[in-house]
Amino acid sequence: MTKLLQTEVEKRRIFGIISHPDAGKTTLTEKFLLHGGAIREAGSVKARKNSKFAKSDWMEIEKQRGISVTSSVMQFEYDKKIVSIMDTPGHSDFGEDTYRILTAVDSAIMVIDAAKGIESQTKKLFQVCRMRGIPIFTFINKMDRQARDPLELMEELEEVLGIPSVAVTWPAGSGQQFEGVYDRVNEKFHCFKNDRLTIDLGEEGLANDQLASTINNEMYDTLVDEVDLLDGAGNEYNEELIAKGELTPVFFGSALVDFGITPLLEHYLNLSPSPTPRESNKGQIEPAQDFFSGFVFKIQANMNPNHRDRIAFVRICTGKFDRGMEVVLTRTGKKMKLSQSTQFMADERETVNEAFAGDVIGLYDSGNYQIGDTITNGDPSLQYEALPTFAPELFLKVFTKNALKSKQFQKGVEQLAQEGAIQVYKTEYNEIILGAIGQLQFEVFEHRLKGEYGVDILKDAANFQVAKWVKVTEISEVKKLTDSRTVLVYDRWENPVLLFANDFVYERFVQKNDGVITLVDSPQLL
Ligand code: G4P
Repeated sequence: MTKLLQTEVEKRRIFGIISHPDAGKTTLTEKFLLHGGAIREAGSVKARKNSKFAKSDWMEIEKQRGISVTSSVMQFEYDKKIVSIMDTPGHSDFGEDTYRILTAVDSAIMVIDAAKGIESQTKKLFQVCRMRGIPIFTFINKMDRQARDPLELMEELEEVLGIPSVAVTWPAGSGQQFEGVYDRVNEKFHCFKNDRLTIDLGEEGLANDQLASTINNEMYDTLVDEVDLLDGAGNEYNEELIAKGELTPVFFGSALVDFGITPLLEHYLNLSPSPTPRESNKGQIEPAQDFFSGFVFKIQANMNPNHRDRIAFVRICTGKFDRGMEVVLTRTGKKMKLSQSTQFMADERETVNEAFAGDVIGLYDSGNYQIGDTITNGDPSLQYEALPTFAPELFLKVFTKNALKSKQFQKGVEQLAQEGAIQVYKTEYNEIILGAIGQLQFEVFEHRLKGEYGVDILKDAANFQVAKWVKVTEISEVKKLTDSRTVLVYDRWENPVLLFANDFVYERFVQKNDGVITLVDSPQLL
């Protein structure tokens, strides 16, 4: 392990931004890139969001709807750290991809609209981050507009998300009366007005004369009262709990007018972890090692319809990547040369010659990789922990329109399931039921089946809302328990799964069959 490698790895940070659409994720990302020297950036962030400027030659759907179906990685440098932002689809029609991206990051920034508070999508994404125990930083955005009471917002964080919070910065006013934010840890006040003056409060803290005479009196008094309350009744600032994801540090600001971003970035870099060890079949693997290894967390096909190529996104877990290096794909034992195969962004192609643990690279793929695959030039039996499968909430029955195309249909279904684009279940009569987290996954499936496999499909409603994996030895017992509202299907690994019409049907089933049958939320728990 050379010193250089160690230094490179320790410099890396990788986070995902989680938010509900319109909370300001795109605007904040742009500001981050602006503050740092953007090293690699897939065009303008905004451009990708807007159909008019969509650069990507990838799916028509993306252009038609003006949304980013795909997600990509942006990198910037700040204070000698190399930070990667994993962009997640911002539309409400997000899918499993969005969740899976969060398995490749070491921390998350949660953006909340100060006037709206916690919204549904934020809640879902938060839960995935919480499950992984990664540090979550909260940015309460749009303080330049009339905001809700900040104390109430803090309370909501704890009540709705169930995570204790600690305010690192605290706002004085909002909207027209926004005076700035107080950094409680560094004892500074960042003025929003007054040419954005920063006042070093020193030991006096809020009693500092300059502060009292600079900002509006009423806002000053409220600030002192509120901070008094926080000091007395709020959670204590505890870096250890933040690192464990058990306490979320909270920051206030406005991405649009670029305010409050510097304290957020600086505290983030100070508190966030450099690449963390990952679980594997060989135990925990530390990132600063001589050998290269990584895992595939996303596969994107047909990025360029003319070439029919696929890109496998790899999170590097250990060591250094050199273009042209030889690795083993541990699932198959196949040797792979990572030569012309490298590129970085989802919609811009750029060759990457070297990268380190904590970076994400894209590899050209001719069909070798699957989601969750490990590649390494170290121990060829190393396998990183499987990526979780997320229980679908939407279901659709599909058939091929033309029976002569059933072979292509089967192939397409299989490959898209393998890629992780959609979940596929088979009934006992070999009917196909698709499972998704977002509606858009169905549209993507239909579009790709037609575009890539030449298959038109017929769709039929599948009236289910809940999927549970069955822990059984005696499948005939399970069959006896099914009816029109509870159906037995098999996932792509042939695990038995029960689909229920709704939560009520599911709960009644559990009550009735308590002790007879055990149901779990995902195949990983079998
Ligand atoms: P998203 O990626 O989370 O979906 O949100 P995005 O950044 O696109 O922001 C959604 C809208 O909120 C945009 O307005 C954006 O300008 C606005 N916005 C973001 N941050 C702030 C902020 O700090 N203060 C205020 N006042 N507005 C903010 P839009 O009108 O929908 O789009 P645009 O016409 O500005 O592009």
